[in-house]
Amino acid sequence: MKKYNFNAGPSILPQETVENTIQAIRDFSGTGLSLMEVSHRSKEFQAVMDETVALFKEILNIPEGYSVLFLGGGASLQFCMVPYNLLEKKAAYLNTGTWANKALKEAKLFGEAVEVASSKEANYTYIPKDYTIPADADYFHITTNNTIFGTEIHKDIDSPVPLIADMSSDIFSRPVDISKYGLIYGGAQKNLAPAGVTFVIVKDELLGKVSRAIPTMLDYRTHIKDGSMFNTPPVVPIYAALQTLKWLKALGGVSEMYRRNKEKAALLYAEIDRNKLFKGTTAVEDRSLMNICFVMNDEYQHLNDEFYKFATEKRMVGIKGHRSVGGFRASTYNALPKEAVEALIETMQEFEKSH
Ligand SMILES: Cc1ncc(COP(=O)(O)O)c(C=O)c1O
Repeated sequence: MKKYNFNAGPSILPQETVENTIQAIRDFSGTGLSLMEVSHRSKEFQAVMDETVALFKEILNIPEGYSVLFLGGGASLQFCMVPYNLLEKKAAYLNTGTWANKALKEAKLFGEAVEVASSKEANYTYIPKDYTIPADADYFHITTNNTIFGTEIHKDIDSPVPLIADMSSDIFSRPVDISKYGLIYGGAQKNLAPAGVTFVIVKDELLGKVSRAIPTMLDYRTHIKDGSMFNTPPVVPIYAALQTLKWLKALGGVSEMYRRNKEKAALLYAEIDRNKLFKGTTAVEDRSLMNICFVMNDEYQHLNDEFYKFATEKRMVGIKGHRSVGGFRASTYNALPKEAVEALIETMQEFEKSH
């Protein structure tokens, strides 16, 4: 029976991505071998890698002078690779949630890492806006979408120093002016592919400036030089990423995704605001288009578990809020159809009628 998949990540992928990857796992590109059994150095897989990089650049409109890499290690390894490669003396971080905080912690291992602002005191329910980016920092790091707390930076920030962004949970969800960023990274397991591959978009001219020695595997230049093939790349997730990129392009690219994502989010936030049982958890202007967090209103807190059970019976999957927020979180990534949001809204309305 069909489920409505609101998982926060790994999460829903386009049906085409799943089906085409299954097909390639059976027979990859007419080779008579499974995608899991072929050499990453075969001409068939090299063609997949080349097309994935090209389509990634095309869809995001990535200017000349940037490299796109597909690496292992998750976004969490980037918390360390970014300062390893770019922090000489001082870096600045905006602390907007658990992941931002983890990135900041790693940077402190490499030099001075200053927190320019934080919303920790309010359990990360908003994005701080009143801060100054130190002009002498090597870079400024932000997390554009805070998967756990459901806040999002909706505009590309103007920064006097290279802007570094963790876009794990909102890449491809809206148009981004890449030229404003020095480096963008993210785990693929939300809007792109199954877990196992991490994308990095890096402005080449920023590299090679730190004085420390960098281990070969952790040096971005290694992977640029070898086209993400220095060692064995995550072959199956990269193949799946290519299927998602083709799906995305055929539907009209990031501007169409943005239109759909705004529409889905507006429907669900409107119901959260209208329904007497529920309330949102974040500042309205910072509400995420990808992770929609809500809790029971104070007088209905006792209905929390009951609503969860009710929604589960209605085939909703993955709507439990992260333990640090509680309540509910509906992740509405690119591949989530509008019908899933409508089904959740109906469920909320039905539950309201019976209470
Ligand atoms: C915004 C953000 N950054 C980083 C991570 C960590 O990613 P990974 O598990 O790939 O290390 C996550 C995971 O959910 C995330 O949502």
